[in-house]
Amino acid sequence: MDGTFKQNDLRHIVETDKARIWHHLTQHKQFETADPRIIVEGRGMRVWDQNGKEYLDAVSGAVWTVNVGYGRESIAKAIHDQLMKLCYFAQSAGSIPGSLFAEKLIEKMPGLSRVYVTNSGSEANEKAFKMIRQIAHKKYGGKKYKILYRDRDYHGSTLAAMSAGGQDERNMQYGPFAPGFVRVPHCMEYRADELGLGHLSGREFGIAAANLIEEVILREGPETVGGLCLEPVTAGGGVITPPEGYWERVQEICRKYDILLHIDEVVCGIGRTGKWFGYQHYGVQPDFVTMAKGVASGYAAIACCVTTEEVFEMFKEDPSDKLDYFRDISTFGGCTAGPAAALENMRIIEEEGLLDNCTAMGERLLANLGALMERHEVIGDVRGKGLFCGAELVADRDTKEPVSEAEVARVVAECAAQGVIIGAANRSIPGRNNVLCFSPALIATAEDIDEITGAVDVALGKVFG
Ligand SMILES: Cc1ncc(COP(=O)(O)O)c(C=O)c1O
Repeated sequence: MDGTFKQNDLRHIVETDKARIWHHLTQHKQFETADPRIIVEGRGMRVWDQNGKEYLDAVSGAVWTVNVGYGRESIAKAIHDQLMKLCYFAQSAGSIPGSLFAEKLIEKMPGLSRVYVTNSGSEANEKAFKMIRQIAHKKYGGKKYKILYRDRDYHGSTLAAMSAGGQDERNMQYGPFAPGFVRVPHCMEYRADELGLGHLSGREFGIAAANLIEEVILREGPETVGGLCLEPVTAGGGVITPPEGYWERVQEICRKYDILLHIDEVVCGIGRTGKWFGYQHYGVQPDFVTMAKGVASGYAAIACCVTTEEVFEMFKEDPSDKLDYFRDISTFGGCTAGPAAALENMRIIEEEGLLDNCTAMGERLLANLGALMERHEVIGDVRGKGLFCGAELVADRDTKEPVSEAEVARVVAECAAQGVIIGAANRSIPGRNNVLCFSPALIATAEDIDEITGAVDVALGKVFG
């Protein structure tokens, strides 16, 4: 740490935090006897807490966000310069960084063409849901209004996003939810038994898992289903990589029933999996792509809902109809710091070859986790794409009975004690919060990766013997 804050000042910050801050995702009783963690500073892959303890951050700001690492002066400068020129004007007007960022983004997304800027992933998803609903009204007499979402996927914290939430434990006590959202089964090969597909594997499993979506469409009536919203790789729901053949079949099904495909790239977007977008690994062509976390690596709050020109065209057909456009606004979608930061963030990823580094380091991370699986019986499965990996912990490899959430939390705490911050599924899926998560910044080196898995090795030894 640079010592700007003296220890006494930080004690004041901790006490004020305990008195005044309502932390996200946190049960606060613990802070009656312990201090919350306050992150004071970050450089590259590392952060420091209020006690000066250094951590290697293996989860890019806890929730897969700081893709280019901490302390990027060029992003700070891009934001500073833009704010001095123009900080804000509502997105009903344009801006210089808005145009330049949209141009650069669309270069990376063949087949897509329009960028709608918002300020959170939840909100970006809501925009896609609203567009699908409005298309249902404009084209199908309001009938094709249902939006399908998948078991174990997450699309955000607002009530409509939670209505499309496949994580039952996360949703508990927040209902009732919005009507018109319908769940389809997950596609996790490791737990194919839960889907009645335990006899299948590889491509056969992937196609059968996608066919389960078709079954839901037929049950609901294809004329009532307007959209399908999926994560390319399920994130908080357990780092679930799609099985072979799955996406190809999903695309076929969407085309067959005239269903718009919305891919939620809030986590995977902007490099996390080694390509600009997760869906680009699978040869799929979406109608909507939403993104948030890595768009500006957390240097500014910016998210986007990107659509095809075909979707966009549907909202400008008849100017004499006063409802014939997308009547929506996001106030902070007009903040210019977001696109200024996002543009510089993309430049860094390109100039430093971070997609290639992500692929190479992701392979190393997955291989290291595979080696840990040989040493620790408690690891039942490892999965991942690029620098986005998970290790599922089970009490018994044959029955796949999950370990408890408390045991998973102890592994996370043991890693933190060694100075490595890892993540874990928490309060998401009843009885299935048993996956460790790893998503270091795309600048990670081989030494960083080995330090992460080295800490996990020690932690697993301590917790499970
Ligand atoms: C896949 C996915 N979609 C949407 C969201 C919601 O994003 P935000 O928290 O920015 O609203 C998240 C957040 O973790 C996410 O993981």
